[in-house]
Amino acid sequence: MASVNPLNVTAAQGTAGLHLLVEEIDKLVSLPDIYYRLEEAIVDPGATTDSIAELLRSDPDLCARMLRMANSAFYSFPTTIETIERAVSTIGLRQIRELVLVTAVIKAFEGIPSEKVNMASFWEHSVAVGILAREIGRAGGIPGAQSFYIPGLLHDLGRLVMYLKLPGLMNDLLDQRESSGRVMYELEHEMLSYSHADIGGSLLALWKLPPSIYEPVTTHHNPAEGGEFMLSACAVHIADAWVNSNQTGSSGDRFELDINNETLALLGIDLDAVETAARGAAQQTQSVARQFMGH
Ligand SMILES: [Fe+2]
Ligand SMILES: [Fe+2]
Repeated sequence: MASVNPLNVTAAQGTAGLHLLVEEIDKLVSLPDIYYRLEEAIVDPGATTDSIAELLRSDPDLCARMLRMANSAFYSFPTTIETIERAVSTIGLRQIRELVLVTAVIKAFEGIPSEKVNMASFWEHSVAVGILAREIGRAGGIPGAQSFYIPGLLHDLGRLVMYLKLPGLMNDLLDQRESSGRVMYELEHEMLSYSHADIGGSLLALWKLPPSIYEPVTTHHNPAEGGEFMLSACAVHIADAWVNSNQTGSSGDRFELDINNETLALLGIDLDAVETAARGAAQQTQSVARQFMGH
């Protein structure tokens, strides 16, 4: 099991510190080769269901995890999916790629010991935000809202990096959060000159994930600056605020409803619509979160 040496970065280092931090974590945690090979196979016109299933079968542990996920309430297929071939043909390549990404990220981080972070709680928060971001996008009638799930799921990945590589600084931040009542995001900016959103976005970009994933992660606390992926960033922002206020898991933020109203307007929804979406998402969240933790 990999051990983690704490890193010292200061606000004075600015983005140089951000790059150093992300490079350090990249040495410990990376996506498996199979993810990139799957990316190639997906754009290869000669690839077939069988050839993709064969590629996936080269990683039995990943296959087992994917099948568990495929059979979770997230997909709610009427019959059990028992083989990887069935998964590929039933779920479709886009979602297979998402499943591989999600399982690979969880697997990559679970090998790292940390007393500072409750992984179950962290992933429960993440799953809840991912599912709710998708439902909020649907409530706003946004085409492609399905794709909001992954940036929602990975939105606080930078926090995980901070817990692992900057444990002392995380302690100070959590203390300050308690004593000042201020939001973590602002405190991070003061202490580092960037936030967990920048850290997560930079790591995902370094892993060569597409901007549709890393841009909303980077801007989930300032979604109006989300550019081309602003609506996705808005959905993640609202989902995050809602999930925090309902205390479903935690990634270290305060439990309060901190929704930027402009964000609701951009999506064309109101808080009632968010509440309805949240009711639909809650049940799936519990089931999917359990799959994440492998029980
Ligand atoms: Fe966040
Ligand atoms: Fe969050």
